[in-house]
Amino acid sequence: MMHMRSLILLLSISLSPLFGLSQICESGIGYCDSESVLSSKILIAGGTVVNADHQEVADVYVEDGVIVDVRPNIKVSDGVRIIDATGKFVMPGGIDPHTHLAMEFMGTETIDNFFSGQAAALAGGTTMHIDFVIPVQGSLSKGYEAYVEKAKLSCMDYGFHMAITKWDDTVSKEMEIMVKEKGINSFKFFMAYKGSLMISDELLLEGLKQCKSLGALAMVHAENGDAVFEGQKRMIELGITGPEGHALSRPPVLEGEATARAIRLAAFVNTPLYVVHVMSIDAMEEIARAQKSGQKVIGEPVVSGLVLDDSVLWDPDFITAAKFVMSPPIRAPGHGKALQAALSTGILKLVGTDHCTFNSTQKSFGIDDFRKIPNGVNGLEERMHLVWDTMVESGQLSVTDFVRVTSTECAKLFNIYPRKGAIRAGSDADIIIFNPNSTFHISASSHHSRSDTNVYEGRNGKGKVEVTIAGGKIVWENDELKVVPGSGKYISMPPFNYLYNGIDKADENYLTSLKAPVNRIKPSL
Ligand code: URP
Ligand code: ZN
Ligand code: ZN
Repeated sequence: MMHMRSLILLLSISLSPLFGLSQICESGIGYCDSESVLSSKILIAGGTVVNADHQEVADVYVEDGVIVDVRPNIKVSDGVRIIDATGKFVMPGGIDPHTHLAMEFMGTETIDNFFSGQAAALAGGTTMHIDFVIPVQGSLSKGYEAYVEKAKLSCMDYGFHMAITKWDDTVSKEMEIMVKEKGINSFKFFMAYKGSLMISDELLLEGLKQCKSLGALAMVHAENGDAVFEGQKRMIELGITGPEGHALSRPPVLEGEATARAIRLAAFVNTPLYVVHVMSIDAMEEIARAQKSGQKVIGEPVVSGLVLDDSVLWDPDFITAAKFVMSPPIRAPGHGKALQAALSTGILKLVGTDHCTFNSTQKSFGIDDFRKIPNGVNGLEERMHLVWDTMVESGQLSVTDFVRVTSTECAKLFNIYPRKGAIRAGSDADIIIFNPNSTFHISASSHHSRSDTNVYEGRNGKGKVEVTIAGGKIVWENDELKVVPGSGKYISMPPFNYLYNGIDKADENYLTSLKAPVNRIKPSL
């Protein structure tokens, strides 16, 4: 065995949110001798290996960042790091399809950047995420370059979606460059945030057409932004300026309307659609209806929508309430349960977080006006635990389904399966060891995000990510995080995912069905 032993610059994340990134290994930021971080040969022995379609007791052998073998009784030579996983689940690392790290938004920037957000993710068993590049003054290439810079801090693998915020020939051409040269295969259209990110139906139609021609996946933030604007004015006129005004100004009907509109426009263009952060029964039912009619529509719930309800927005303490402000809003009790049921029956396909964190000072920008509270909540570190506790412990999802909704489906949709989202020979060694008999506890005093609050504060539950292996390195073990900024890789994602199978046939059938143009003999006048 090549027993690697050298000094590296190693950053170990503090348990203190106040100093999020500052406390290091044993000795502050510095050079640490870390055998485990450098270990390139690992045997995970005796665990139950879980993929989305199958589970079995087997060993997993990892070398140089790749899974080399998965079978019982693998024999290894001396010097290989052996981890006993007996009685535990060995699963693909989570993939979060929806995050915002270092995002400039509502006059400020998210408190988690590509290092702190990813460090938090790794502590919670997520080993890859897909972040939304925001164009700079509408320019996709400038937005892309800005995010390449931001992502230099990465300590785990990541990919990019890209938002489209204006339309002209340059944007259309840049979309092609993003897909063909930059490894981006999905574009998001914000139907809300009037005056900043919001697009018109006309733009959405152009965008859907261009996504289709490139084989890219169109994504929508579905809320009627004009009506939200009206709802906000109504609340202010009523003297409702606190965080509860946020929920009251953008009720589920506006999410349902925009979801239905986006679905119908995607049907008109005949292109697949991905609805991000489905928060309400109204939106979920539109997706279910479209799927029943055969349309290719993917619905993504986020953890906050699955497990929280809007009562928190009425909390008398401003910061306590404001930390829950996100869009679409966290809904009244009942919506979350319905979204859980839709996830368990397959109407909703994969779980994201929409991790977009602002600390108390930033949330306080809206102390006198809820419209100024930066929108967003945490979730990257908590997603795997909360989905397990809410869905698996309650019997709503099997263990294999857990892998599907937290990892495999995302890898398939964004066309990186089986490199990601699977424990099999040849896949990247992004692996978690999960102890179903242990417990987790969530608190801002122990999480790894730089935020000073946590919307899941005080929650306990069953199951714990005990070990995270990312790119073949053990980065989380014994509640200790060992991560190296700059070690994460950009994952290029090719177009034409499985949703595109059959789209061309449907187009042909459509053209045939037109029975037009009719060849008419021109009457001689
Ligand atoms: O409140 C939210 N969701 N903030 C992030 C931006 C978005 O809409 O996804
Ligand atoms: Zn959104
Ligand atoms: Zn988002």
